[in-house]
Amino acid sequence: MQHLLLINIRQLVGVEKGDNRMSRVAGADMKHLPTIDNAWLFIENGRIHSFGTMDEEHFIQCNDIIDLKGKKTVIPAFVDSHTHLVFAGSREGEFVDRINGLSYEEIARRGGGILNSAAKLNAANENELYHAAHERLHRVMAQGTGAIEIKSGYGLTVEGELKMLRVIRRLKENSPIPIKASFLAAHAYPIDYKKNHEGYLNLIINEMLPQIADEGLADYMDVFCEEGFFSVDETSRLLDAGAKYGLKPKIHANQLHYSGGVQVGVQHKAISVDHLECIGDAEIEALKSSNTMPTLLPAAAFFLGIQYQPARKIIDAGLPVCLASDYNPGSCPSGNMPLLLTIACTQLKMTPEEAINAVTINGAAALELEQEIGSIAIGKKANLIITKDIPSISYIPYDFGNNPVEKLIINGAVV
Ligand code: NIG
Ligand code: FE
Repeated sequence: MQHLLLINIRQLVGVEKGDNRMSRVAGADMKHLPTIDNAWLFIENGRIHSFGTMDEEHFIQCNDIIDLKGKKTVIPAFVDSHTHLVFAGSREGEFVDRINGLSYEEIARRGGGILNSAAKLNAANENELYHAAHERLHRVMAQGTGAIEIKSGYGLTVEGELKMLRVIRRLKENSPIPIKASFLAAHAYPIDYKKNHEGYLNLIINEMLPQIADEGLADYMDVFCEEGFFSVDETSRLLDAGAKYGLKPKIHANQLHYSGGVQVGVQHKAISVDHLECIGDAEIEALKSSNTMPTLLPAAAFFLGIQYQPARKIIDAGLPVCLASDYNPGSCPSGNMPLLLTIACTQLKMTPEEAINAVTINGAAALELEQEIGSIAIGKKANLIITKDIPSISYIPYDFGNNPVEKLIINGAVV
């Protein structure tokens, strides 16, 4: 039996007591982030065994004790439910092009953007990709990420997509944190298929999907549903094809236009629809009739200098909100979750409690891991952040640009 006891925790954050386990938080409830002051937490065999207050409830004694001396807080590790962590090279040239007035879409039309990364990725070998992604993964873990989703989508060829997904599989095998893989060949039309959409859709449906399913390489099906990328009809066909292999949708929707992406995602029972810079009443109504998680990626809006997502409108409609980084070389070359919390608070006007709920329990729900991680609950995996000395939970987004994480605990062990 492996044990670890944390004592004198300044605040234990995101706790759930009793049997009524919540699977996500929505609407006005997002403002509530239950905490216990002056707490202890007992971990057995990698899972949360029990917790309580230092004064009132007894804890089981054990040899492995970390004393947080009333100064450090414990929160569930962050869940980053949308990333493109596997990529080759960088795109700071496009960053400068945007400063000089080109838009993200214009750069893409000229053959840059996703196609730029696809050329670089296809020229890189699997080992190089793996080592670069592994390093990025460990960097974001040091910033508190304790579960992550990673997409393909820079291959855009059979070999390239399989190569990316095999890199993700290797990361899964060698990483202590939960990882989910999404198949995103429908990220952009490759140059050879610019005028032959049918040909590329057939390649995805008839060649890529069967091989990916055969090797069990993906958990989800993703499509960039957007003007100039994949239309609603094309998205629908692709999601139907993915469903035949048991791949549920998590899609890119409504980033640049009112594209119909939210509605087509809801129709296909998407686990999440992600981005949502452009959403109004019709999209919100569609979401209200579904279990689809609205996932906002405000760090990408920040980096591209485009409009932010209307988080208040979504929460005030009674919906849940999830936040994720969108870590990728084009629209968000950072997977820094503490910085994401700052952007959510300052730009989307989410409270610190809402933002933390959005990257913990709601992030877990966006990866269908809400029974395992995302809150402090008995039986859940002990995937936790021990913070540095901080005066309150609001200090995390307030202290922007700095890292609040002192230790990351995964499966009950410090990593
Ligand atoms: O989520 N918008 C589509 N895909 C990515 C960006 C990809 C890229 O520019 O490389 C995103 O922002
Ligand atoms: Fe993305």
